[in-house]
Amino acid sequence: MYQYDDYDRALVRERVEQFRDQIARFRSGALSEEEFLPLRLQNGLYLQRHAYMLRVAIPYGTLSSPQLRTLASIARDYDRGYGHFTTRQNIQFNWIELDQVADILARLAHVDMHAIQTSGNCVRNITTEAFAGVAADEYLDPRPLAEILRQWSTVNPEFLYLPRKFKIAINAAAEDRAAIQMHDVGVYLYRDQHQAMKLRIMVGGGLGRTPMLSEQIRDDLPWQHLLSYVEAILRVYNRHGRRDNKYKARIKILVKALGMEAFAREVEAEWQHIKDGPAELTEAEYQRVAATFQPPAYLPLPATDIHYGTALSRDDNFARWVSRNVKAHQQAGYVSVILSTKPGIASPPGDVTDGQMEAVADLADQYGFGEIRIAHEQNLVLPDIRKSDLYALWLELGKVGLDSPNAGLLTDIISCPGGDYCALALTRSIPVAQAIQQHFDDLDYLHDLGDINLNISGCMNACGHHHIGNIGILGLEKNGAEWYQITIGGAQGNDAAIGRIIGPAVSAADVPAVIDKLVSTYTDYREGDEEFVDTVRRLGLAPFKERVYGHASGHHTADNNAAVREVTP
Ligand code: HEM
Ligand code: SF4
Repeated sequence: MYQYDDYDRALVRERVEQFRDQIARFRSGALSEEEFLPLRLQNGLYLQRHAYMLRVAIPYGTLSSPQLRTLASIARDYDRGYGHFTTRQNIQFNWIELDQVADILARLAHVDMHAIQTSGNCVRNITTEAFAGVAADEYLDPRPLAEILRQWSTVNPEFLYLPRKFKIAINAAAEDRAAIQMHDVGVYLYRDQHQAMKLRIMVGGGLGRTPMLSEQIRDDLPWQHLLSYVEAILRVYNRHGRRDNKYKARIKILVKALGMEAFAREVEAEWQHIKDGPAELTEAEYQRVAATFQPPAYLPLPATDIHYGTALSRDDNFARWVSRNVKAHQQAGYVSVILSTKPGIASPPGDVTDGQMEAVADLADQYGFGEIRIAHEQNLVLPDIRKSDLYALWLELGKVGLDSPNAGLLTDIISCPGGDYCALALTRSIPVAQAIQQHFDDLDYLHDLGDINLNISGCMNACGHHHIGNIGILGLEKNGAEWYQITIGGAQGNDAAIGRIIGPAVSAADVPAVIDKLVSTYTDYREGDEEFVDTVRRLGLAPFKERVYGHASGHHTADNNAAVREVTP
């Protein structure tokens, strides 16, 4: 894992004191609310419905056990005993007192963490997938380049006042588990036929009120050009992106307005000026950073383990958990384990208590190499577990409620905080997620349904990624009431797609029944081991609409389905 050097440490500590002073000046009235706003946003501090919310960066979702213990201590000492892990691999604390923020940041700095650029119109936390460096289908380790991007983008003065937020992700495995195509810039890292490290650069993705998937702007780019090429994209965006209307300010709008060809021409022209300049990466620089991502001290183990095999055949519950939550590893005898944060009514998706965080930190030390990852799906991952330890680990996870066997299933819901916290929310998300989880409490049925991702956002800002859920739920407000619009056919990853609306929005109470109809349509029509989203792709919306609304047009009539009421968003 990357180790801070003296520069990193000095930068983070100076920033704590700078923000401490800014808070004091705001408190004394020397800074107005308007002046304070961009300062607090660049330090991850939002003002929410009930309190300040602090978003802490977890670069490419990697934490050490001492860092996780520190997050637990912050949850306990400064919040209400829990934190919320997000889809961009960060953590949010929802109940923060302004006067304690500098002390919290100082505590974070102590373990080389911060909240810099987790909000505001700057380059945000760089993300990758949760299994980076260990995934069996990985071409290359994306973390050194992710770290190089982090260092380059942190407090880079040229890009601190962009037209709008800017999100960069990098993926280097056969399966895209980093939702690359919904990022402003997405990077696919691969080896070409000569084994050289190359980049495919995607640009113009983003969700929000105008969802768009990114498109390829450059392929076959040698890795040495990573920073110069991304810099060229940012310069074009900084120059031409709209600053007059925040709803049209993301790079996706600029790319669409110019057209990809014209946009790419601008980028290439800019790139010619900076290419081969100081932003070019050298082998020495790559090796300096890569040296901190050396594999831990794996033991030479056989690929199979007799005790693991016995436990699998003797304990069905264990076998069921393994079938969903355990992933193949590059190293013989090891696996990676997903700790689901989606137990249902017991706690909202992504929420983890201080006690759970401490337990996970201890388990990472006891069974792994002290490392924890945050997954895009808001779950935790222990990346390096011996097969021979899996059963014991599973029993320990059961004691702290982190053993739900539902990774990738319908109840592994991505949900934004919604109206329970968020000041922008039109509706609540968490109770809807929990109602669905309660409705689908039959594990055999859920496992039979297989891979389905269901994503919920409490407003069109789309923090819950509803557009790219196989089933997406978007909260809408109409005449003071909460309504939910449902889409199907969305997908993240290699076959990313924006979902399509099935018909009129439904009330909160009706959502579980509607989801039930969608999945029962799937089980009626699926062929072989076809996944839900493939059935939607093959058949289109018609049979799903028919089942939900009574006939394929999607128009509600009083007697075709009393459960569904119409609303115009
Ligand atoms: C509670 C406070 C939050 C506020 C005020 C907030 C605000 C926003 C806004 C205004 C947008 C739309 C941006 C645009 O289209 O230009 C957005 C998008 C987004 N937010 Fe949030 N958000 C919050 C929490 C979260 C959480 C908890 C997550 C992760 C679970 C998250 C992840 C995202 C993602 C992934 C997008 C959409 C993707 C994109 O277009 O970049 N946000 N957020
Ligand atoms: S989608 Fe809307 S309600 Fe949900 S967190 Fe984002 S801004 Fe808030």
